[in-house]
Amino acid sequence: MKSAEAFEEILDLRARAVEQLLDGLLDGRLLADEIARPERLLEAMRYGVLNGGKRLRPFLAIESAALFGADRGAALRVAAAVECVHCYSLIHDDLPAMDDDDLRRGRPTVHRAFDEATAILAGDSLLTFAFDIVADEATALPAERRAALVLALARAAGIGGMAGGQALDLEAERRRPDERGIITLQAMKTGALIRFACEAGAVAAGASSADRERLAEFGSAIGLAFQLADDLLDVTADAATVGKATGKDAVAGKATLVGLHGIDWARSQLGGLVSQARRLLEPYGDAAEPLASAADFIAHRKR
Ligand code: IPE
Ligand code: IPE
Ligand code: MG
Ligand code: MG
Ligand code: MG
Repeated sequence: MKSAEAFEEILDLRARAVEQLLDGLLDGRLLADEIARPERLLEAMRYGVLNGGKRLRPFLAIESAALFGADRGAALRVAAAVECVHCYSLIHDDLPAMDDDDLRRGRPTVHRAFDEATAILAGDSLLTFAFDIVADEATALPAERRAALVLALARAAGIGGMAGGQALDLEAERRRPDERGIITLQAMKTGALIRFACEAGAVAAGASSADRERLAEFGSAIGLAFQLADDLLDVTADAATVGKATGKDAVAGKATLVGLHGIDWARSQLGGLVSQARRLLEPYGDAAEPLASAADFIAHRKR
């Protein structure tokens, strides 16, 4: 990709496509066997999803699918599913029992705009809905690929992935992990979903296991970079720019690599991760440029 602006234009385009799909999926219409969609809960789900995120995970899923020639409609649904899991993780991450945040994506957090119980249930419902989206026949993929995606998403979201990482993140406020421990918790809480997003396109396309593994490795590298950048932004950015409170990690006693090694170290580490990520995509040549540009965006992002 020629420039950061060109990348952001495509990111925006993909974001609009996934938002349009989510808007339609999260409306009042019932799916087969649903009995009712309680209005307030649906409203909270929509509030937590349709609120201007960067949609980076959907971008990764869509572009990895394009790289291997997967069905575009199916890829968009998988992208929507991973965004549902991500938005659920943010809603719960912001709860008073977790990071206790009032601002997300420039607006009051879901438990602030609604109430805690509704925020918990909106998270539960979004997580479940993600699997609904992937498993549904409307995701036009062979059944075994849908099953493989459901399994991979479950592994990425659950105890051995995001939720487990969140548990370690909270534990680390009391018992400080060493560098290895921090890397493990970040690979879980943030890396696992990003890794899934990158891998998902290869799975949807029925690509070889070598390709799937390569994309997963790429996802792991940019996943680490992503959390490193997030932790840097917590120290260097202001709330108006990132749409959430900053300067909180140190106060909350969060275990981060930025806290351990400082800002300059983190910046140089980001450079290394981007190079590693780009190298992994070399076999695909120019076709992988959107994904490679995503690595740059992640490392240098301001929001
Ligand atoms: C924030 O994720 C939470 C982390 C995993 C660090 P994003 O920075 O992708 O948040 P949105 O989706 O753009 O709001
Ligand atoms: C969030 O990490 C990770 C997940 C939501 C799984 P943070 O707690 O650092 O994310 P922000 O800074 O609140 O977005
Ligand atoms: Mg957190
Ligand atoms: Mg948080
Ligand atoms: Mg953070």
